[in-house]
Amino acid sequence: MYLTRLEERMLAGEYGYAAQKAMEILVALGKIYGAERMIEIRSAQISGVSYSNLGEEGLEFLLKLAEDGCVRVPTTLNPCGMDLEEWREMGIPEDFAEKQLRVIEAYRRLGVELTLTCTPYLAGNMPEFGDHVAWSESSAVIYINSVIGARTNREGGPSALAAAITGRTPLYGLHLDDARRPTIIVRAPRIGGELDASALGYHVGRILVGGVPLFTGLGAISRDQLKALGAGLASSGGIALFHVEGVTPEAQRYSREHVEDVIEVTENDLRNEIEMLGEEFDEPDLIFVGCPHASIEELTKIYLLLSGRSVSRRFWIFASRAVRAQAERIGLLAKLEELGVRVYCDTCPVVAPLKRLGFKNVLTNSMKAAYYLRSLHEVRVQLKPLRKLVEDAVR
Ligand code: F3S
Repeated sequence: MYLTRLEERMLAGEYGYAAQKAMEILVALGKIYGAERMIEIRSAQISGVSYSNLGEEGLEFLLKLAEDGCVRVPTTLNPCGMDLEEWREMGIPEDFAEKQLRVIEAYRRLGVELTLTCTPYLAGNMPEFGDHVAWSESSAVIYINSVIGARTNREGGPSALAAAITGRTPLYGLHLDDARRPTIIVRAPRIGGELDASALGYHVGRILVGGVPLFTGLGAISRDQLKALGAGLASSGGIALFHVEGVTPEAQRYSREHVEDVIEVTENDLRNEIEMLGEEFDEPDLIFVGCPHASIEELTKIYLLLSGRSVSRRFWIFASRAVRAQAERIGLLAKLEELGVRVYCDTCPVVAPLKRLGFKNVLTNSMKAAYYLRSLHEVRVQLKPLRKLVEDAVR
């Protein structure tokens, strides 16, 4: 693999321990995937921030890197295991909070912006069309590849951090035109809301083995629905790029000569998918929205659906601090809080230590959340569209 003089010097340790370790990771990756060289990146986004995922070993590794390391490009962070300001109110145990704060401090020392969100593109980290970046949160990776036309592979936490420290990533995969061509056409029904979009993504991801789907027939689709569609595809299928005819910037760019198949998805397929992932229970002990983190439009929609009624169950929204601040500025946050809704930041139920918070029955509108809550936290999950979540919350 060709390395520039600067990259060779990083690898030789002339720029310190962190740059050397980072370059070792990237060279190893590049060799595995047959990259000829590195490319410079415009930004990085790092997942694996919750102490629940990192554990003691991960924390020690970070602390060691933070001794002499610093990121070279703007870098943002995925959610961690708790709201940094309101973790006590959330019920987060002290011992967990203490470890989580050490993780955050290590990232701060590395120069990472503590955005703590899976929607950094709603919080100031927005690449432009054609930018090469190194991001690792799967729902954000697929969003910026597909909706923005930026270029990133689906990095792991360590490789995204290595790219941030060196300002580089190996040139392979979705950085190249070849891997961005559609390989399958998906004829889909019109999307009714975020849960439908999420179910469509989850369904297609589950039946495809890799590849790049090109959706047709979706009709008008909102930014939040694209966010939900991508999160669904990324959670069940590990897919990192999709195109939507007439909507996404690269949908018309490539010829369809690589399309191997055409599949048809019906409304029934979506209903089945939602039923299969959900489970029966009488009373939810948590209703939540915001996987991926909610936008200002979603917060507004919830307020309008409440139409002045207070919630009688625990109803939490997860959003970035940037979106929360936006809601605060326009008076929306105060109105939601008056009705009993809580807006938490920096975290989400999947990366928080949910079991230790005692939740057993969770109601949400995200297939991704349902999938991970069931597999990682062993809680029961029911899926309903936003309108029904709000009705259940006020009942
Ligand atoms: Fe974001 Fe957590 Fe869902 S990180 S995409 S809200 S699982």
